[in-house]
Amino acid sequence: MERCREYLITDPDKRKGCWRKPDRGLLLEIGCGKGSFTCKLAEREKDKDLVAIEKVPDAMILAMERAKSIALKNVCFIDYDAANLREIFERGELDRIYINFCDPWPKSRDAKFRLTAPAFLRMYADILPIGGEVQFKTDNLPLFEWSVSQFTEEGWNLKKVTYNLHADGSGDILTDYEMKFMKDGVPIKHLIAIRTETTLDSRAGEPPRLRNAALADARGAKQEEQT
Ligand SMILES: C[S@@+](CC[C@H](N)C(=O)[O-])C[C@H]1O[C@@H](n2cnc3c(N)ncnc32)[C@H](O)[C@@H]1O
Repeated sequence: MERCREYLITDPDKRKGCWRKPDRGLLLEIGCGKGSFTCKLAEREKDKDLVAIEKVPDAMILAMERAKSIALKNVCFIDYDAANLREIFERGELDRIYINFCDPWPKSRDAKFRLTAPAFLRMYADILPIGGEVQFKTDNLPLFEWSVSQFTEEGWNLKKVTYNLHADGSGDILTDYEMKFMKDGVPIKHLIAIRTETTLDSRAGEPPRLRNAALADARGAKQEEQT
């Protein structure tokens, strides 16, 4: 951590509402892991700043070392749990959120931890403006189908839904996990969801409900009773 100090943000709550620099976009990646995607994205989107959060510091150190090795100036890292994003971002502060290959949490009782569960989607709706977007990639078909239905029920506009992102060779920047899955021939699922005026956020009257928490055919998990 010490070697990459210039990339590490240790007081993210103090920066709430102050992340955005004049005339620059602001992107967030949740669960950046070892940071291949993070660094390539920051290199490509030079007119934007990228905040990468990761709750496992060992992985994040590798990501920070990568950023330092190519002297990136528009990326920073936070050792943080995505469950608390409202503590560090103001309403509508971000332009886009990336979630790549998050844990599927296959058991119904753990569905609330999936990063596409309704409580997370409402949090993203809080910190994105109308027109802001979430981009989500996964190898896991049941998680993807479940996520598509959660975004839809929560009032997001699904601008793109694909079950085989790389079928025509036009896939985007690859993540570390994505490279492994592609080697194994696993099709990558991808969606882009747009926050609209009617997307539910934390101001919506009813608390977020988990819908159909069972994943139909999750890796290694038996089908569970729908909740
Ligand atoms: C399967 S790895 C994928 C890493 C990277 N996105 C990729 O595609 O190569 C998922 C990563 O998300 C992180 N993660 C999971 N839940 C998180 C949360 N609530 N907050 C922050 N990071 C999280 C994990 O620690 C892990 O590094």
